[in-house]
Amino acid sequence: MIPKQLTDTISGILPEIEALRHELHQHPEIRFEEHWTSERISRFLKEANIPFTRGHARGTGICALIHGEKEGPEVALRADMDALEIQEETTLPYASILPGRMHACGHDGHLAILCGVAKTLLHLRNHIQGTVKLLFQPAEEQAGGGRLMVEEGLLNGVSAVFALHGWPNLPAGKAAAKSGCLMAGADFFKIEIHGRGGHGADPANAIDPILAAAHIITALQSLVAREIDPWDAAVITVAHIEAGATSNIIPDHARMEGTCRALTPETRLRLIQAIERVAANTALAFRAHAEFTLGTDGYPPLYNHPEMSALAREAILETFGNDGVWELNRPCMTSEDFAFYLERTPGAYILLGTGGPHPLHTPHFDFNDAVMPHAIELMCRIAFRALQLPQI
Ligand code: NI
Repeated sequence: MIPKQLTDTISGILPEIEALRHELHQHPEIRFEEHWTSERISRFLKEANIPFTRGHARGTGICALIHGEKEGPEVALRADMDALEIQEETTLPYASILPGRMHACGHDGHLAILCGVAKTLLHLRNHIQGTVKLLFQPAEEQAGGGRLMVEEGLLNGVSAVFALHGWPNLPAGKAAAKSGCLMAGADFFKIEIHGRGGHGADPANAIDPILAAAHIITALQSLVAREIDPWDAAVITVAHIEAGATSNIIPDHARMEGTCRALTPETRLRLIQAIERVAANTALAFRAHAEFTLGTDGYPPLYNHPEMSALAREAILETFGNDGVWELNRPCMTSEDFAFYLERTPGAYILLGTGGPHPLHTPHFDFNDAVMPHAIELMCRIAFRALQLPQI
């Protein structure tokens, strides 16, 4: 089923793919600003004679196609493109040249892997029955580029979709493709508390929004404990609070921002409604008034399709051997906009063990090059298997 030349082909292109990864690492661009990145990937595809369209998802997204020798279904693989607003602190020769910007989530690795997959599949196109669509997606980090790619219809006609993320918590040489819920849905909220300012020595003639804010934060932390089933999971975090300017004046307003996470659409909705209720009524108890705003940038929980997870597991075993599958027994409370793809099309999201001492989103992180050939092999094997699934 899988051509024997697969690993040889990958070995042949690896130096180029590693160099590309380092180049991308040097040029980290944040959400919807991935212009250099988009140009570089386009040049790679053009030089490889791979047809593609660009300008997707507000400008920087790319969709490339590998047409097999024979007709068949269409399956898609996706890589995210964006970096983070972090000052890199590595001393790598290819460290970020842009101040305050860094590929600290390894999306440079994901991009290079998908480019490696493109070139490998092109080499093996006489073994391909159908089309493999390669989606280079901007703005994964809190900006929902994935939602835009799906809304643009890039999954139309696609029978299965897959993506991976490098995961330093798992050892290199292993990968996880947990069936069902893999990641939480995430929402972002703001609460503005309106009080009435006054002299710090005369609180009776003021309405203190800071006191109301303090009670709201404390009350919010009771929600998960008292309103969510203990066998379900949820998180509420108030991550930003702002009020007042000096030590003897009660301000008019206080504001806070936070995030909540849930594993099912029902719990997600219940949590949002409860936060709004607790904020409004706690503020009222202290004569203040709270205004709750829910961000439009929330992500749904990410659900791996059971059949597609099983397919990915087979491919993991083929790539990494018999102990290559990492059994995850519970979902992560992080979120991922690949959830939008999986709402539309059956597929699976794979956590690829990269090992390493530094967690994601930290200034010393770097993607582990050693896993790249295996990751390319894994995604190629997934594509071959997905093209052979019986079509519904
Ligand atoms: Ni990421």
